[in-house]
Formats: sequence, C-alpha cells, structure tokens
Amino acid sequence: MRALVARAPGAPLRVEEIRLPAPGPGELRVRVRAAGVCHSDLSMVNGTLAPAYPLVLGHEAAGVVVEAGAGAAVPVGTQVVLNWAPACRRCWHCRHGEPWLCAANTAPAVPRGETADGEALHVTLGLGAFAEEVVVPEAAVVAVPDDLPPERAALLGCAVLTGTGAVRNTARVAAGESVAVIGLGGVGLSVLTAARAAGAAPIVAVDVAEAKRGLALAAGATHFLVPDDRLSKEIRALTEGRGVDHAFECVGRAATIRTAWRLTRRGGAVTVVGMGGKDDLVSLSALDIFHSARTLRSSVYGSSDPDREVPGLAREVGDGTLDLTPLISGLVTLDEAPEAFDRLARGEGARWVVTFPD
Ligand code: APR
Ligand code: ZN
Repeated sequence: MRALVARAPGAPLRVEEIRLPAPGPGELRVRVRAAGVCHSDLSMVNGTLAPAYPLVLGHEAAGVVVEAGAGAAVPVGTQVVLNWAPACRRCWHCRHGEPWLCAANTAPAVPRGETADGEALHVTLGLGAFAEEVVVPEAAVVAVPDDLPPERAALLGCAVLTGTGAVRNTARVAAGESVAVIGLGGVGLSVLTAARAAGAAPIVAVDVAEAKRGLALAAGATHFLVPDDRLSKEIRALTEGRGVDHAFECVGRAATIRTAWRLTRRGGAVTVVGMGGKDDLVSLSALDIFHSARTLRSSVYGSSDPDREVPGLAREVGDGTLDLTPLISGLVTLDEAPEAFDRLARGEGARWVVTFPD
C-alpha cells in the first residue's frame, strides 16, 4: 500500500510502500478517498512540530469502511469522516463535556505498521491519512451520507470542524458582532464562512498574502486587509473606534496572537485557533491584560464533539447552508502531494485535497 511518508523534519517527502496490521478488535480498515493538506501536517514536515519518524502524514480525511475487526459495528461500505481526537468517553474531560480535550488523545504520532524494509512506522494523530488505507479504532470515524463528495467530507474532519467550532462553540459569535480573522488558510477561511453564517458584521479578513483577497471575500469577509502599520487604525475605523468583538488567530504564531490582541476591543475576546511552536513566546503587559479586560483563549478542534457535530455539518454542506467551494483550491494525486505541501508553505490557495482513484 502506498503512503506519503516524512522521514525527518526538513527531509523531502516521499511516497513509499508501507504495511499496516489487519484491523484488530474494535478497529476498522478504511479505504481513503480524499485527504486535505493542512498546516499541522506541514508543521510536522518543516520541524515546527517534531513528533516521531518515519511518519505517515495526513489527518483530515474521508473514506469508505472496507473491513471491520471483531466487534466493530460500522458496516462495510459506509462513508466516514476520520476524527483525529476520538473521545474515550471515560476520562475526566469526556465526562465533563470536553471530549476535544480527551486525556487519551495527546500523541501527535502513534506507532502503527512498518515501512517496506520493516522499520517501525508512525501515523499522524492516530490516522496517517495520506495513504491508500488506514486502520483506526471505530471511535475515530463518523458516518456521513454516501452522496457527500469525499473532498468535502474530508475537510469536515479538520479545517471545517475547527473553524466552525471556533466561531460557534468557543467564541459563540452572535449576529451583529464584529469579527477579525488573521490567517486565511483552510482554517481561517472556514472561520470566515461560519462567521458569515452567524450573521457577524463587519467581518475583517487579514492575511500577508494579497492573493487571499478574492478567497476571503468569497468565503464571507466584508473587508480584506494586508497587515501593516495602519492595521489597528483601519480596524478601529470599521468598528466605531473600539476594535472587534472577536479576533480569531489562524496562523499559529506569537506575533499574530499579539496582533489579534491589539485588534480586539476592551472586553472582547481573542480565540487562538492556530497551533504555534513551544518556544514562540507571546508577550503582553500586565497592565494591558488588566485594563483591556480582554479574554484570550484557545480553541482545540473547535471545542467540538465530532460524533455529534460532523453529521450536522454534513447536512449543512448537503443542503447548501455551508458552502465549502471557496475552501477547495484543487484536487491532486498522492504523487503530487509533495508539490501541494510546497504550495501550502508558499501560502498559495486554500485547501489542496489529495484524492484517491476508486
Ligand atoms: N499575518 C497574517 N497572515 C499570515 C501571517 C501573518 N504574519 N503569516 C502567515 N499568514 C497566513 C498565510 O499567508 C496563510 O494564508 O496564514 C495563512 C495560513 O494558512 P495555511 O498555511 O493554509 O494554514 P491552515 O491549514 O489554515 O492552518 C492554520 O491552524 O490548525 C492550525 O496548525 C494549523 O497553525 C495552523 C493554523
Ligand atoms: Zn488539521
């Protein structure tokens, strides 16, 4: 079976033959149909995160169940979205309504299978979805309708769940509130889409790449700005001098968390959706923290319960409430995936989705 493997941080990506075990009790073998190239994968390629290697990349995917291990109840033939944070339903967080913080889900790389020469292999977030097949616990799949196009279903598993969840569950954006979104990749664009659906206004999109303007406006932004010295002023001009009610940081850097903080009004909320590096420190003055009365919090996996929310998102995509068209820049083959990583690194397009022939 073929899979996209990272050998070490900074090493070129290669498509390799790998071997996975047969599904054990409670596990499923899923034939992957589509998998999105997400910045978190890039972070494991460029060394921002350095989990364990060799590593099969990919964690935003949809596929079809082709084999069920003993006791697994999902029928063969079901289209499923993969969930990179399956909840154990027993730990403290799961029992207190925070399944996205499940204590059983902390490893970015999980040992599974082996390379063609028998070396122990790891899979990203327990999935490793840039592969013709994955073997996963039953809890790591959510069934979706068969007629949902796989490249759309795939995005529900990370960018869309994360972006819509940040707006709806974490920040609870209300109609009429003002929003700024910094960083317009798959995640930021999906925050824009959800903010528009929530009735927010104005919705100001911010990205260093001017090329994101069209995508941002299509996804739901009312304004697009490239950050420079005038950014704070321009945002204040759009919000009666106050700053936005909600800022969403969708880059994953201390500098953009600071920017989000500055753009937010007194008493407003900054939601950090991007995942940054452990040595990238955010500096805020003690006086500013007190005086601004702002809230700074993060949103992990959209503070969502995928088992409950992915089916609802699939319905919204199905009936057109949630339009994912602006999010998908193109479909590529597994062999073209390394090039798609390069495009993501250059900030080109929104989501590139690897699709697999039936
Ligand atoms: N200011 C504004 N925008 C920036 C800046 C900056 N200083 N630096 C980068 N960007 C923009 C890029 O131009 C790009 O459009 O941020 C966007 C990031 O998009 P992607 O690389 O496609 O990232 P995405 O997959 O959306 O993930 C965003 O969320 O899940 C996390 O790990 C992920 O931290 C990452 C973040
Ligand atoms: Zn992701």
